[in-house]
Amino acid sequence: MRVLVTGGAGYIGSHVVKALRAAGHDVAVVDNLSRGHRLAVGDVPLIEADLLDRPALDWLFATYPVEAVLHFAALSLVGESQEQPGRYALNNVGGTVTLLEAMVAAGCPLLVFSSTAAVYGAPARMPITEDCPLEPTNTYGETKLFVERMLRRFDTAYGLRSISLRYFNAAGADPDGELGEDHEPETHLIPLVLGAALGQRPAVEILGTDYPTPDGTCIRDYVHVTDLAEAHLLALTALASGAPTAAYNLGNGQGFSVREVIAAAERVTGRAIPVREGPRRAGDPPSLVASSDRAEAELGWRPRYGDLEAIIGTAWEWHRRHPHGYGRGDAR
Ligand SMILES: NC(=O)c1ccc[n+]([C@@H]2O[C@H](COP(=O)([O-])OP(=O)(O)OC[C@H]3O[C@@H](n4cnc5c(N)ncnc54)[C@H](O)[C@@H]3O)[C@@H](O)[C@H]2O)c1
Repeated sequence: MRVLVTGGAGYIGSHVVKALRAAGHDVAVVDNLSRGHRLAVGDVPLIEADLLDRPALDWLFATYPVEAVLHFAALSLVGESQEQPGRYALNNVGGTVTLLEAMVAAGCPLLVFSSTAAVYGAPARMPITEDCPLEPTNTYGETKLFVERMLRRFDTAYGLRSISLRYFNAAGADPDGELGEDHEPETHLIPLVLGAALGQRPAVEILGTDYPTPDGTCIRDYVHVTDLAEAHLLALTALASGAPTAAYNLGNGQGFSVREVIAAAERVTGRAIPVREGPRRAGDPPSLVASSDRAEAELGWRPRYGDLEAIIGTAWEWHRRHPHGYGRGDAR
């Protein structure tokens, strides 16, 4: 298929672009490079534009007549979203609605959307299934939930079908070592831990040690970025075969605490990782673990990387070989 990937210069988008090409799809990327990296796109056509730029999108759909869009472009820092709610609404909701209007105008009927576990807020029931209440506790999650709801409206109004994929904690790196996670600022635990292993930061801060979990630290579900890429290919195939608009959780179904992640990273790297214990961060639920049964039953998706050390191992290879990420041209 001919597909457009928004946010394809980012962490997850770039891994999906690689998987799409390997599967024989014809790919173009649109990214404003606010958080992404030109080098992560390789030789795929990259159109540097903002999703809020409707004329640029119209030009894009005229120049690259695509059958589907995979939509990753968003701002996704929870803390930042709390401090700048308007910016998040404008970028994530405004950008997506502009994209959807351009798709309708161009007659592009299919979309796969990067949603998030943050649409659930702090659910009482674990593992989290898709029918848990949708009660985001931050602006970021609110923007994603609003987009999911708009997607249903666009289906009703225009027949634009979509699959929303609610990722839990994306982790790991391309097993070939070509792509990895390079965020600035970095807020994700595994790259922070590996940065400490490399001596790039003095210590990893544990945000809260008094949660009602076995070791007192937060539990999260880490899903490998290559497994996420596979889910996008399956979602695309499902939509192309007539699947209805739907939402699916993507997690590996196991929770690991912050201390377990640090201990696993020490085993993988063979290095001691200094920690500093700090207070809880407001709004962090104690535990978030996915049930991905619906994605397995309806999309045929099963994560291959369940093992935490294997996930961290791929991330470590990337960080060890590219200590400056894409920034100093030593990647790819
Ligand atoms: N990383 C995770 O653990 C995780 C978990 C759940 C959901 N998600 C979602 O998955 C998607 C990808 O996440 P990621 O970690 O790869 O993020 P990322 O920041 O690495 O990638 C996002 C990309 O979108 C681009 N972008 C942002 N706003 C844009 C705009 N208005 N116009 C054009 N380009 C724009 C950025 O430059 C960046 O390259 C996001 O939508 C995020 O909300 C990520």
